[in-house]
Formats: sequence, C-alpha cells, structure tokens
Amino acid sequence: MADRRVLTNLRGLLTPDPARTWAVDRIPDAALALQDGRVAWLGPAADLPATWADAPRVDGGGAWATPGFVDPHTHLLFGGNRSGEFNRRLHGVSYQQIASEGGGIRETVRATRSATVEELVASGEARLKAFRERGVVHLECKTGYGLELEAESRLTAAYAELKQRGWSLDVTLLPAHDLAPEFNGDAEANARAVAEDWLPELVRRHPGVARFCDVFVETGVYSADQGRRIFEAGKRLGLLPRVHADELTRTGGAELAAELGAASADHLMFCSEAGMKAMAEADVTPVLLPGTTLFLGMRDWAPARRMIEAGCRVALATDFNPGSCPCVDPLTILRLGCLQLRMTFEEAFTAMTLHAARSLRHGDLGHLHPGAKADVLLWGVNEMLELIYWVGEPYRPRFLPA
Ligand code: NIG
Ligand code: FE
Repeated sequence: MADRRVLTNLRGLLTPDPARTWAVDRIPDAALALQDGRVAWLGPAADLPATWADAPRVDGGGAWATPGFVDPHTHLLFGGNRSGEFNRRLHGVSYQQIASEGGGIRETVRATRSATVEELVASGEARLKAFRERGVVHLECKTGYGLELEAESRLTAAYAELKQRGWSLDVTLLPAHDLAPEFNGDAEANARAVAEDWLPELVRRHPGVARFCDVFVETGVYSADQGRRIFEAGKRLGLLPRVHADELTRTGGAELAAELGAASADHLMFCSEAGMKAMAEADVTPVLLPGTTLFLGMRDWAPARRMIEAGCRVALATDFNPGSCPCVDPLTILRLGCLQLRMTFEEAFTAMTLHAARSLRHGDLGHLHPGAKADVLLWGVNEMLELIYWVGEPYRPRFLPA
C-alpha cells in the first residue's frame, strides 16, 4: 500500500520552480500531497484533487512550508578549532600572515592528523545536528585537513560512516586544500602526488564514497595548470570537479572551472567578467560564500548581481570550516546574500535550495514540485521575508513528521 498524506492548514507554501531559473511559487493557503516520501501535488488547498479526499491529513499548524536548505560547500570534518588565531586577527594580524607563519589551515591539519575516525565522526555528527536543526537537509562535505594519504583516508572513512548512519551527504575529495608541509613548498611535486597517488588510492580504498574532487587554486597554493592536472586525474576516477576559485586573488579559477565542465566554482570574490560569462556558458554553478567574506573582514563581496546578469544560476553556501567561516547557520547566509550580495529574498532563497541542489546534481532536492523528496520545513512566521527582516532572530523550522 502506498503511503499517502496531505499536508494542510498551511499559511502558505514557498518553493522554487525547477522548470524556471529564478521563479519562486508563493501559494497562500496551500496544501501539499505526498506519496511514499515524495511530493505528488502542490497548490491552493481549495484545488486539492478529489483523488486525495480520503488521504490522511497532517496539520501544518498555520506555518509556511518550504523545501529544506541544501548546503553545497562545507569543510565539515576537522580536528580542533582556531579561536586563538581568530583572536590574533582581531588584533590586526591578517589571515595570510598567520598562514605564512605555519598557522591557519596547517594548524587544523595538525589537529586533524591526530584525530581518530571515531573522534571525527563524533564531532561531525554534532555539527550535522546543528545544521539540521537550522533547516539544512543535505550537505556537500570536503576532506582536506589531512594533506597526506592516511589522514585523508581517515576523513573519507569518517564520511562513509556518517553516510552509513543516514546523513544525507555528498563527499568531495580535497587533498589539494593546501601545500602539505612534507613537500616544503614544492607545489609541482605535491600536485603530482595528489593526482597520481592519493586520489586513485582514496577511490580504491573507499569505493563509491566520493562524487566530487576539489583543488584550492590560489596564488601561493596550486596554479590553474596544477589544478587542471589534478582535476583531470579526478575525472578519470569518476570525480566531478568543484573548484576553490578566485577566493583571495584573481587566479583564473572560474575560467578553469568552465573549461573543465566543473559542477561548481566556489568563492569567486575576485572573479573576472570573462570568468562569469564562461561559467554561464558552460553551466558551472558559482557557489558564493558570503559568510567567509564577513568572517575574514574583507571588503570585496562576490559579484552576485553581475553573475546573475551574465546568466549564471548562483548558489549560496556556508563554507563551514574552522578558519574562514565557523558558521552552521543558513539564515546568516540568506541574510548576507540579501544584505551584502544584493540578491532579492527570492533569489537568495533559490540559491540556497534549488541552485545549491542543482550544483550537486540532485533534481529532487531544493524544491517542492512533483517528484521532489518530501524534505519539508515548516516556519512559524507570518511572511517568509521575516526570516531575514528580523536580523538576529534565531528562527528554527519544524520538520514534517515521518
Ligand atoms: O574555503 N580556501 C580554502 N579553504 C577554506 C579555509 C580553510 C581554513 O582557513 O581552514 C575556505 O575558505
Ligand atoms: Fe571552502
């Protein structure tokens, strides 16, 4: 017997329309018909088809229903935290200066290398719960704080265990997150190790766990050429590229992502106009991370408006990580999208649902049209816009009961 239910007593329903790039349906007094964990019908309650007349009702309690948030860029697993370094930054030392002294990512690498798989899983699960309470139903998660094969392998094993426990995740291999201390600044040799040894071995040891690979293409880290070679090796292993691109300086990361047919190019504070056009043409999703710009105290916000005008389907994400954005809160990102990237509420909402899911190649997440997974959030507000309007308010959604 099919499991059929109708969600009623909704103040309204807000969902992006997967058939149109930036269109958001706003349906007052809505109902949502669900069958076997999927959306079967949505519309005004008064128009509910007669075939649903005797299906059990779920009371929405007068809330607004929306799809769950999808976070397409996190560095979920790492050891330790960097509050000490943060305090130094508050005293005027720059992020790059701290990194050049062997702190920054390297500090987290030391703490991560000494963590066991069990410790990584335990802290990861606590973070996933915090994301979930705030309405995030699916995340992309990167390795990258191991910077050598065994530690990267433990991170991948920890993600496999979290997936096994039922968390909805996509894993991205990022052993090229920084130069490993063992290579003494020899990016060329490090890139070769990643492409020729580490990625193939990680995929061999953990078959089916990762879907994507990523490289930090940045001045002083990996060049676009080195990135290209790593991504090509990843592609041969069935891993789709996602690129840390144009984050601190303009390095041609967006252009590289377009050339490779990457799923996404992320950060992009220093993206060129040519890069934006290339991403639009190659259907690369720009994933913008305004929490990082805020937390690093930078002035250059990613040019979201120009990207939208260029035809890009912009997505937003937290970039959750211990150094540049220790933030699990989708509402903070939604607010920054509107207030600093100058996106409309509907655009920022679409960027954190439909376009985020699309960048991860999930057609059934990030919207509530027929066929979508019934990951429904219920918000106790009069109007959805209030989520950003009451700036510091810690709204939490309710979830549709199973
Ligand atoms: O996405 N760009 C590289 N990686 C992270 C920061 C990592 C860290 O500081 O620990 C980022 O911003
Ligand atoms: Fe990142």
